Amino acid sequence: MRVMMKRRHLLGAMATTAIVGLARSLASAAGPAEVVVFKDPACGCCGKWVEHLSRDGFKVKTVDSRDMAAVKKRLGVPDALGSCHTAQVGGYVVEGHVPASSIRRLLRDKPAVAGLAVPGMVSGSPGMEEAGKKQPFDVVYFDRAGRTGVFERVR
Ligand code: CU
Ligand code: CU
Repeated sequence: MRVMMKRRHLLGAMATTAIVGLARSLASAAGPAEVVVFKDPACGCCGKWVEHLSRDGFKVKTVDSRDMAAVKKRLGVPDALGSCHTAQVGGYVVEGHVPASSIRRLLRDKPAVAGLAVPGMVSGSPGMEEAGKKQPFDVVYFDRAGRTGVFERVR
């Protein structure tokens, strides 16, 4: 009887240790934010932007969609700011070839905006690298009321 009790205590302690370990690994897994990227399966530059984020340490999940216009509408991306892919991270929407460093700043500063965008397809932006071609661009923010402004200038 006594041995049984002891064994039960031991198992209880082992279970507790396992749960604490699991909680810890879950907490550290939450470290790098997960980015969910909606993209057309045929888009090459989208894949390159995904690589850019992965290289920077983001966990990326891609969701193929043939109707990106519908995705952008659902996520509230203003028409004028449209690009190819649309992503969600930490409650924000990220449209187009936004640099990983801008996303990190967004997640750190947590401004009251709906998201960030690099409208169009800017040559030289992450995932749009072309030899010898590099043009300055702005990362813009947008909010739910449709207001936009410059979040960061990339030179
Ligand atoms: Cu693109
Ligand atoms: Cu893209």
